[in-house]
Amino acid sequence: MNVAVVGLGRVGLPLALSFADRGLDVIGVERESAVLEQVAAGRMPYRETGTQELLERVLESGRLETTRTVQDAAAADHIVLTLGTPAHVHIEIDMSQIQQVVDDLLPVLRDGQSLILRSTVAPGTTDWVAGYIEQRRGFRVGEDLFVAHVPERIAENHFLEEIATLPCIVGGVGEGSGAKAAELFEVFGAEVVQTTPVQAELAKIWTNILRYTQFALPNLLMMEAEQYDANVFEVIDLINRDYPRGGIANPGLTAGACLRKDFTFSEERSSAPGMLLAVSRVHETVPLFLVKGLKSRLGGSLRDRKIAVLGLTFKRDSDDLRDSLSFKLVRLLERELAHVARHDPHVSVGSDPLDTALEGAEAVVVATNHSGFEELLGRLPDDVLLVDPWNVTGSGRVFSTVRERAAVE
Ligand SMILES: NC(=O)c1ccc[n+]([C@@H]2O[C@H](COP(=O)([O-])OP(=O)(O)OC[C@H]3O[C@@H](n4cnc5c(N)ncnc54)[C@H](O)[C@@H]3O)[C@@H](O)[C@H]2O)c1
Repeated sequence: MNVAVVGLGRVGLPLALSFADRGLDVIGVERESAVLEQVAAGRMPYRETGTQELLERVLESGRLETTRTVQDAAAADHIVLTLGTPAHVHIEIDMSQIQQVVDDLLPVLRDGQSLILRSTVAPGTTDWVAGYIEQRRGFRVGEDLFVAHVPERIAENHFLEEIATLPCIVGGVGEGSGAKAAELFEVFGAEVVQTTPVQAELAKIWTNILRYTQFALPNLLMMEAEQYDANVFEVIDLINRDYPRGGIANPGLTAGACLRKDFTFSEERSSAPGMLLAVSRVHETVPLFLVKGLKSRLGGSLRDRKIAVLGLTFKRDSDDLRDSLSFKLVRLLERELAHVARHDPHVSVGSDPLDTALEGAEAVVVATNHSGFEELLGRLPDDVLLVDPWNVTGSGRVFSTVRERAAVE
């Protein structure tokens, strides 16, 4: 078997390498020369656990060929699209990357091939792609050309383990597409679950909507607790303690390249417009809530005050900066004319050393719950305001100073 993977981003590259590692001949298509150069030099452009060694192994095997030309993908039996699917700001999926690549492939698609959407898409997109190809090339999708959605639900830094263990959802168009796509993804050994394209699309976006919504509740509670001068972590403990029916997570800045936009693929045609938008607004309000809290505790103005923001990536122990709320927090602080220092142990560009960031800071905000930040408490002078919505330091308060905590304890 051979396969082409179009779009060697954070999803496409580990997938292409994993296919090659299972013995398939792989054509990797990527428009960014910088990515192709790094791959050719044997350096992973993104951090993903275990993939550096995998890349080296695959390059040695000679089973990965890379190209910038989309049409080259047509040499493969299976073509998997791992392109970006952002959202327009007015809440509508931006399918331009997919449409562009399908347009490029149209003249070169041939009988018996499969085209598989691995990208996250709005319900109906897979059927649209199938209809678009039928309209323009006259194939009967499901009989002589195969189109399916096989969504990616793997968490960053867990790719190599979860590709082989997470049930693989396959939504094929027409009679034969599901079986054809399964033939490819079965090489990973995980259970393959066949469904319709729309159900596969819904399952993927609602996996993320569920998480996004669940995390909004502790954030809303954190902001509500502040109104009443209550301690959110004590309330959360009261809710969860020995209670047998579910629980609530801790608050924290929640965004990232997936959660921040996947809800819009439901919201764009929602039966209850605004509900998921409200969930998003809760998360998007947290940076402003933290800035207001800082301001009121630092005498009403942040002008010329030094504030250190710790953690720039959107996720714990990751190097992924895309759609991180840390940058929104920094921008809001800068709009208060504060001097903002930034530190992230996983980021090399735009990150100050920890000591430099902390030196002279009147407040320290833990924006990402990286491991290692537990040690912070011992490093801060008594009167520095610590802002830790995650409670990663164990301070037990969203806003507190060492002095205040000592007075209570
Ligand atoms: N990152 C994740 O953790 C994750 C998880 C699950 C699902 N997804 C979904 O998977 C999809 C891909 O996500 P990603 O994070 O890998 O995105 P990405 O932006 O990192 O990767 C997309 C890649 O496609 C390339 N590309 C775009 N147009 C091209 C063209 N015409 N020819 C060749 N290459 C082209 C881009 O240069 C980029 O490298 C998205 O739909 C995303 O929502 C992502």
